[in-house]
Amino acid sequence: MSQIGKVLAARDAYPRGVMAVMQQHYGALRRALDQNQCVAANNSANLLWMTRMSEQIEPALNPGNVDPRFHAYARKLDARLAAARALNPASCPALRVAARQIGARCAACHAVYR
Ligand code: HEC
Repeated sequence: MSQIGKVLAARDAYPRGVMAVMQQHYGALRRALDQNQCVAANNSANLLWMTRMSEQIEPALNPGNVDPRFHAYARKLDARLAAARALNPASCPALRVAARQIGARCAACHAVYR
C-alpha cells in the first residue's frame, strides 16, 4: 500500500483536521464573496489560514514526498493561493475568480485521492 493509502486507511486525525480547517476558511471566503461582503481583513485572514493549512497537506499526507503526483497537486493549490494573496484583498470580483480557481485545485486532488 502506498504511503498515502496507509494514511487514508488509518483515517488519521491530523490530515482530516487540516482539511476541516481548510474547508472552514474556503467556505467562509466563498460565502462572503458570493454575498458581496468584501472585508479585506477577512479575505486576507481566510487566505492566510488556507495557506497555512496547504503547507501542512504534505507533512500530513505525503511525508517524505513519496508520491510525486500528490506533490504536484499540492503545489498547484499553493500556487493558486499565492496568486490570490497577491490580489487586492478588497477586490471582490478578482477574488471571486481566484476563489473558484482555488476550489478547482481542491477538487482536482480530491478526484484522485480522497
Ligand atoms: C493535494 C491533495 C489535496 C488538496 C489540494 C486538497 N485536499 Fe482536501 N483532502 C485530500 C485527501 C487525501 C482527503 C482525505 C483525507 C482523509 O480522509 O484522511 C481530503 C479530505 C478533505 C475533506 C474531508 C475531511 C474529513 O474529515 O473527511 C475536506 C472537507 C477537504 N479535504 C477540503 C479541502 C479543501 C477546501 C481544499 C482546497 C482549499 C482541499 N481539501 C484541497 C487531499 C487534498
